[in-house]
Amino acid sequence: MADRSTNLLIGVNLKMYMGKAQTLSWIDSVIAGIGDVSGKKIDYFLLPSAPLISDSISKTSGTQLKIGAQNISSEDSGSLTGEISPQLLKEIGCVYALIGHHERRSLFGESDEIISQKIQASLQNRLIPILCIGEISTDVSVAKVELKHQIRAALENVQTGESLVIAYEPTWAIGAENPASDSHINAMCLVIREEMVKLKIENFRLLYGGSAGKGLFEKIAPTCDGLFLGRRAHDPLSFLTIVQECKSIREATN
Ligand code: PGA
Repeated sequence: MADRSTNLLIGVNLKMYMGKAQTLSWIDSVIAGIGDVSGKKIDYFLLPSAPLISDSISKTSGTQLKIGAQNISSEDSGSLTGEISPQLLKEIGCVYALIGHHERRSLFGESDEIISQKIQASLQNRLIPILCIGEISTDVSVAKVELKHQIRAALENVQTGESLVIAYEPTWAIGAENPASDSHINAMCLVIREEMVKLKIENFRLLYGGSAGKGLFEKIAPTCDGLFLGRRAHDPLSFLTIVQECKSIREATN
């Protein structure tokens, strides 16, 4: 079950959707809104397009909104044209690194081995990894096997004291009309938590993503520590409405 003493975490992955003006204006609107809405009970992250990471870090300096990269290299430096160094991201003030998103696995051929290496690279550079996992199958028993395999493959070599984030996103719910059902999300999040107990990793927050939006958190709050948002957060006002909902639910259950 979700630990109610930890802050909720709400993150947004902009993928390759927004240009510079739109990204910076989104940040302005959200920073103005979150202080009023959430106090200190919620942590936030934004994953902008890579060319905008630096500007986003400058704009969010001293606020509750932290910036992460949508992808990192498994190496700190070298002859790796086009790759993004985790060491450099740390140097410029990046806080999070997204690793193993379904689009990276399926469109860019990221294997379990590469994902495990990127987790290590992220931790070594003191970037908080956001590990994406999610089943392809719609069969619940196959899905459980897929999730357990992805967790083991990515985290088996992680030291037990490390801090990280898991974003659970069934692949068939990404870019879909609706998120997975709340009963499915709650069941799978319990499986994920059991697997983390076996790995003795306690310091993690578990988010749900995949067409997540308004009205969802209330149904999955028992097992989730927050949301990983995509399209439904593009409008800053929608994002702030979701934040308000999450805050009310957490306050009501505390
Ligand atoms: P979506 O994206 O909410 O737009 O489906 C989620 C994701 O891929 O992280």
